[in-house]
Amino acid sequence: MDEQSSIWLPEAASTFAEDVDGLFYFILAVSVVLFVAVIGVMCWFAYRYRRQSDADRPVPFKESKWVEASWIVIPTVLVAIVFTWGFQVYVKMGVAPPNAYEITVRAAKWSWLFEYPNGVRSNALHVPVSRPVRLKMSSSDVIHSFFVPAFRVKMDVLPNRYTYAWFEATRQDTFQVLCTEYCGQQHSTMLSRVVVQSEDDFQAWLRDSVMDESMPPAERGEIIFAQQGCPACHSIDGSAGAGPTLQGIAGSERTFTDGTTAVADENYLRSAIIDPAAQVLQGFQPVMPGQYGATLSTEDIDALIAFIQEQ
Ligand code: CUA
Repeated sequence: MDEQSSIWLPEAASTFAEDVDGLFYFILAVSVVLFVAVIGVMCWFAYRYRRQSDADRPVPFKESKWVEASWIVIPTVLVAIVFTWGFQVYVKMGVAPPNAYEITVRAAKWSWLFEYPNGVRSNALHVPVSRPVRLKMSSSDVIHSFFVPAFRVKMDVLPNRYTYAWFEATRQDTFQVLCTEYCGQQHSTMLSRVVVQSEDDFQAWLRDSVMDESMPPAERGEIIFAQQGCPACHSIDGSAGAGPTLQGIAGSERTFTDGTTAVADENYLRSAIIDPAAQVLQGFQPVMPGQYGATLSTEDIDALIAFIQEQ
């Protein structure tokens, strides 16, 4: 998940990334060759046929059938190649194999939630390597766009209908997920990651993430804490992050940006989860997404608070 600062395409890690890149580089190469040829000939002509003296007069020029034909035939052939090639890649990317593993994607201002067939929910997209994965996507508010640069997968996520995308990851690693449709104030923080795992690791993760009804609340809370992606901003060991650490938070006195204070009791923790913008802690920005009140059940919130109180 390195920052991509190269002028070339990002790392390629899906089965059709090579096809997309091949076509892109073909178009780029043709464009460069044509650009250099056209500009080169133009400069040469400007020099070759420059006015040599005041008495210089242009001589009528007889056009060449070969030149005329070439600038009709060559671009037509190039366009036909790009169309045929592009259409093949488009169809391949558009039609998921029938045996693809389906994951439901929910986009909301400003986070991603991935839901698995066994009911597991996660803020990071875990997928098995070398297996086609189909995403069934919808949004609960505005238009978002699901983009994994390393997979060359990009698809709009709409509020009033399902859209689909699919990919097959080719190696085990972690890749960046971005939202590429401007969706409001925190659009640029609407990030997630794809964790590509071996089939065994993936199945183990899926099993471990299933919540058992008989689990103690704090244990359930720990799983929800990880699934919802909370550790991205909140550490539990006191280290700094985009959000306050949870270490020792329960019962501590909190000072807010408006100068007021409160003791972090259960009611404070609850409102900090479901309405984080209401009281913003001093030294922090109001960047926490506000959808948890809608996406987490009352039991989930109770479990999270139980977990936080143990930190
Ligand atoms: Cu969601 Cu931009």
